[in-house]
Amino acid sequence: KGKRAFIAGVADDNGYGWAIAKSLAAAGAEILVGTWVPALNIFESSLRRGKFDESRKLQDGSLMEISKVYPLDAVYDNPEDVPEDVKTNKRYAGATNWTVQEVAESVKKDFGTIDILVHSLANGPEVSKPLSETSRKGYLAALSASSYSYISLVKHFLPIMNPGGSAISLTYIASERIIPGYGGGMSSAKAALESDTRVLAFEAGRKKRIRVNTISAGPLGSRAAKAIGFIDMMIDYSFTNAPLQKELSAEEVGNTAAFLSSPLASAITGAVIYVDNGLNAMGVGV
Ligand code: NAI
Repeated sequence: KGKRAFIAGVADDNGYGWAIAKSLAAAGAEILVGTWVPALNIFESSLRRGKFDESRKLQDGSLMEISKVYPLDAVYDNPEDVPEDVKTNKRYAGATNWTVQEVAESVKKDFGTIDILVHSLANGPEVSKPLSETSRKGYLAALSASSYSYISLVKHFLPIMNPGGSAISLTYIASERIIPGYGGGMSSAKAALESDTRVLAFEAGRKKRIRVNTISAGPLGSRAAKAIGFIDMMIDYSFTNAPLQKELSAEEVGNTAAFLSSPLASAITGAVIYVDNGLNAMGVGV
């Protein structure tokens, strides 16, 4: 029987979330996505107008279908958490039920259960500031949007996940090695995400036999990465220095997510899986 996936963090066809959706769809999964509220209108109208049709193409020539797009802001767990200025913000006005708890409730109402949960989102308002110049507010915002958002998704979706399911997030090697330029507490957020992956693997494994892993991906010129500012340099650096001297495609990360969500990976949980052309294994650049 087909599996159902909910992928949080898809707002265009450039990022890892989109590529993961495609690989899961190609493997036969039904696709639901969660799209950041302020990006929802553009994403939905682009989908409707066929702007993504070329990149919706799967290997067999068919187009990936997205059964439903849910508005989501993973920084808020329930309506009580949403501050007045956000509630009344024009970019949020048209959408409803977009807190994590409400989205999980809506998915339950619409589809009953899911098998695969993907967290492909991050945000650090002070990412361009060095860690030592980051404000408390900026640091906590990075952790809230990029790390706690995963705990919240797992917390609220676990009750509707079928036993044997899989949860996946995306991390970056800046969690464990110094990557100047990945600031604002984003390196800290990824360190938390990786540590939480282990603890969540224990808890979800014991509770429901659900596996929890994270993919440490190499650099990709996504919308989020371009906002950081140093992505072209990181892509060049990887090309020059990694064991595999080729460009990393988002599809390679997508395919790994499909593998990790399949029975082929039935004993893999609590793991950080590198999909980076091997760059993580290098000690010096050559
Ligand atoms: P992306 O721009 O495609 O994805 C980030 C998404 O997060 C966007 O769709 C954005 O709308 C969404 N988002 C931001 N704040 C949100 C919130 N509060 N609630 C809901 N959605 C929110 O960019 P990318 O790069 O594909 O990012 C996906 C994941 O991959 C992130 O966790 C990122 O840190 C990770 N990653 C990216 C790398 C890269 O070089 N692009 C390298 C390693 C990891």
